[in-house]
Amino acid sequence: MRIPVAEPYIGDEELKNVIEAVKSGWISSKGKFIEEFEREFAKYCGVKYGVATANGTVALHLALKALGIGKGDEVIVPALTFVATANAVTYCNAKPVFVDSHPEYWCINPEKIEEKITPKTKAIIPVHLYGHPCDMDRIMEIARNYNLYVIEDAAEAHGAEYKGKKVGSFGDISCFSFYGNKMITTGEGGMCLTNNEELAERMRNLRDHVMSKNRRYWHETIGFNYRMTNLQAAVGVAQLKRLDEFIEKKRQIAKWYAEELKELEEKGLVKLHPEMEWAKCVYWMYSILIEDKAKVSRNKLMKKLEDMGIETRPFFVPMHVLPMYNSCEKLPIAEDLARRGLNLPSSVTLNKSKVEFITWKIKAIMRG
Ligand SMILES: Cc1ncc(COP(=O)(O)O)c(C=O)c1O
Repeated sequence: MRIPVAEPYIGDEELKNVIEAVKSGWISSKGKFIEEFEREFAKYCGVKYGVATANGTVALHLALKALGIGKGDEVIVPALTFVATANAVTYCNAKPVFVDSHPEYWCINPEKIEEKITPKTKAIIPVHLYGHPCDMDRIMEIARNYNLYVIEDAAEAHGAEYKGKKVGSFGDISCFSFYGNKMITTGEGGMCLTNNEELAERMRNLRDHVMSKNRRYWHETIGFNYRMTNLQAAVGVAQLKRLDEFIEKKRQIAKWYAEELKELEEKGLVKLHPEMEWAKCVYWMYSILIEDKAKVSRNKLMKKLEDMGIETRPFFVPMHVLPMYNSCEKLPIAEDLARRGLNLPSSVTLNKSKVEFITWKIKAIMRG
């Protein structure tokens, strides 16, 4: 038996929808499921318009392009995120500027943003990391004061809430991923959300090679094929109906982990996945930090768990230490979290006895 860090849950309705889409002949990027998925996902997040894309990375690129980010511009991103957040900025010939993490809840630290703002700064991309929302009031206040766009990267946090409001509903545009390990999946897939009709229209246009509405095969500028297929959306429509159920299951799994690992936290050996008082975390990946006081290092623990058939993942490597972004800059919190953090198995298919098995093994390893 091997327990994966993540696996999708695909039900009968997903299959039924895909068969319907295949039989209808609408297997590319036109078809009823695309429109339904865009409309329903936007509604779920409390946003007016949805623009479905081929994946979350191109959703970020599309958002940046639609906002006119280009050569010479700077965009603020957290150092601790998946590489796609920074790469999308680079695709625009703009420069990602890295900000350190908050020590308590691991997302971008708003108090460290202002010192990175220059006359070239055009936007901030807060990332709701591992399912925990960013401090959006503070980020929106900074954006207002400096006249910056906000693009939320909500790839890992569908349904998470900041002060009772869903993430993805704060920024000028928000971007989601529906990769197989995400809160809901379409295989590969993504979406941009916005309340601005003009921006939505621009993103639809850019997604489809900027084809003129009045003249077929007339293109004023360079665009992209970033479209989602109707087959992907067919899966998405069915998955979305279960998102609240998945969130509740993830929160239940988090509770089980917290109960079982509490004794390690009390001994100062681990730090458990946080949830700030203003946050509803969806625990996309239930994560812990290994404290320096523990006898076993993060890497050793991961190796031993792997040998026992339990898959885990290390935290992301902070962007500023990757070869293409290497800046020699020190961002101590992000570096420390990356050194000590790991994601535990977090699929909605887990049950209590599996969590007990995993935590029993962790406790046994950490006892030495
Ligand atoms: C924070 C973050 N942003 C962007 C992406 C990119 O999404 P995708 O893999 O769908 O391109 C991911 C996930 O993979 C992610 O975790």
